[in-house]
Amino acid sequence: MRIISGIQPTGNYHLGNYLGAVQSWVKLQDQHESLFFIADLHAITIPQDPEALKQATFDKVVELLALGINPEKSSIFVQSQVKEHAELAWILSTITPLGDLERMTQYKDKAKKQKGELYAGLLNYPILMAADILLYKAKAVPVVKDQIQHLEFTRNLAQKFNARFGSTFEVPEPLVPESGGKILSLQDPARKMSKSDPEDSRLSLLEDPDSIKKKILGAVTDTGKQITYNPEKKPGISNLITIYSLMGGIPAKDVEKKFKNKGYAIFKKALAELLIEKLGVFRKKYQELKSRDLYIHEIIKQGRMKAQSIAESTMEDVRKKVGFLPL
Ligand code: ADP
Ligand code: TRP
Repeated sequence: MRIISGIQPTGNYHLGNYLGAVQSWVKLQDQHESLFFIADLHAITIPQDPEALKQATFDKVVELLALGINPEKSSIFVQSQVKEHAELAWILSTITPLGDLERMTQYKDKAKKQKGELYAGLLNYPILMAADILLYKAKAVPVVKDQIQHLEFTRNLAQKFNARFGSTFEVPEPLVPESGGKILSLQDPARKMSKSDPEDSRLSLLEDPDSIKKKILGAVTDTGKQITYNPEKKPGISNLITIYSLMGGIPAKDVEKKFKNKGYAIFKKALAELLIEKLGVFRKKYQELKSRDLYIHEIIKQGRMKAQSIAESTMEDVRKKVGFLPL
């Protein structure tokens, strides 16, 4: 089946972004026709510096490749280079009730944080996301929990359009990683790891070994000594177990067994070593690829051509159904 997912080109990727999103993409690309894109149109819903945005978009492609997205199996493209995203978003906006947008949790959160004027783009964000998905008639969309509301919204829009104009869009299913996908802050396990939180609460994927060690040894853990997985009672240590499990490719149960009666300090030291090793591999690949400018641009071009051919054919159908004069 065809799957599609996007990621924004803002901030340095942290461990949460990788374990929550990209790690599952790497697995899915073996089984499905996969399209992944850098959501630069979404990024500008928060003001961006133009030069920095351009660089970040390129760097994200490099990061995806270094993390294991294989251009032989997946297409990687840049959202703004396929104009149909914006075109379909406009059409979908004309069948979207304002109330549905105002109810979105992510919008409410972001609107609260936004200082100064509030722009329509932030409110309309889910419509663009729906267009991203529906354009490609994807059957499934890998997302983490916090995006499920947007996917539900997308499904509603697809059904509404199909009912009004005739069967056009696939109604997509969410594909949520088995782990639930949420990595918590190293300093406050009540919150998720986020790029907008303090530096010592998150691990960048490009973090150097000394800093990895410092942050993991300094991670807030719960009272007690046992390494037991219990997200409700021991969120701090459970989060570290989840990270060990996902990075090491071993079930959480086995992590518990391995460190039974060893105490927090030994466990944290082992986790730091595992991360230093795995992120070291990533860093090396990233640096190698980053200098291969032409190669990266070629991958972006191939991705765009593939995405465009699907998007153009969907839009031809949509235009006809809506009643626009043919080109
Ligand atoms: P942030 O919260 O750091 O601003 P984004 O909202 O840009 O990150 O998220 C980019 C992608 O990474 C999304 O798919 C998001 O759900 C995922 N993601 C972000 N933070 C985490 C986390 N702590 N755990 C798991 N996945 C996460
Ligand atoms: N909104 C998503 C996020 O912030 C990114 C995104 C944009 C996306 N369009 C998408 C994800 C389409 C999946 C499918 O993480």
